Amino acid sequence: MLYSEKVMEHFSNPRNMGELSDANGVGEVGSPACGDIMKMYLKIENSIVEDVRFKTFGCGAAIATSSMATELIKGKSIDDAMKLTNKAVVEALDGLPPVKIHCSVLAEQAIKTALADYYTRLGINPVPILGELPDPEACHVH
Ligand code: FES
Repeated sequence: MLYSEKVMEHFSNPRNMGELSDANGVGEVGSPACGDIMKMYLKIENSIVEDVRFKTFGCGAAIATSSMATELIKGKSIDDAMKLTNKAVVEALDGLPPVKIHCSVLAEQAIKTALADYYTRLGINPVPILGELPDPEACHVH
């Protein structure tokens, strides 16, 4: 089987899908090569990710990785959310086929972009905290 049971399960029954009207950090990343788009909404209070939602216009692996990524950062500190790597998301899903790894990078980037938006709204330059934001096209150079 190409996809693990966990991938199929998160694809069929995605967690935290939708929008957050009271989000205070929103990030959208797109992949010009495949045309997929992922949007992350974060509600951060006292440095904790109190709530998170995602919208993914993309392939099944992108949906499964965004679902898993939201589960991995919900209730966690900003620091933990910042450190979430696509590798950790892929491991939590029991792996992805190599051609689908770039989809998981989209989830990591969407979270970082949403965190950058959160800092920017507070008047804080996110670059010293998060580093240069990933180039969305970078997900196809792996
Ligand atoms: Fe584009 Fe999966 S094929 S995100």
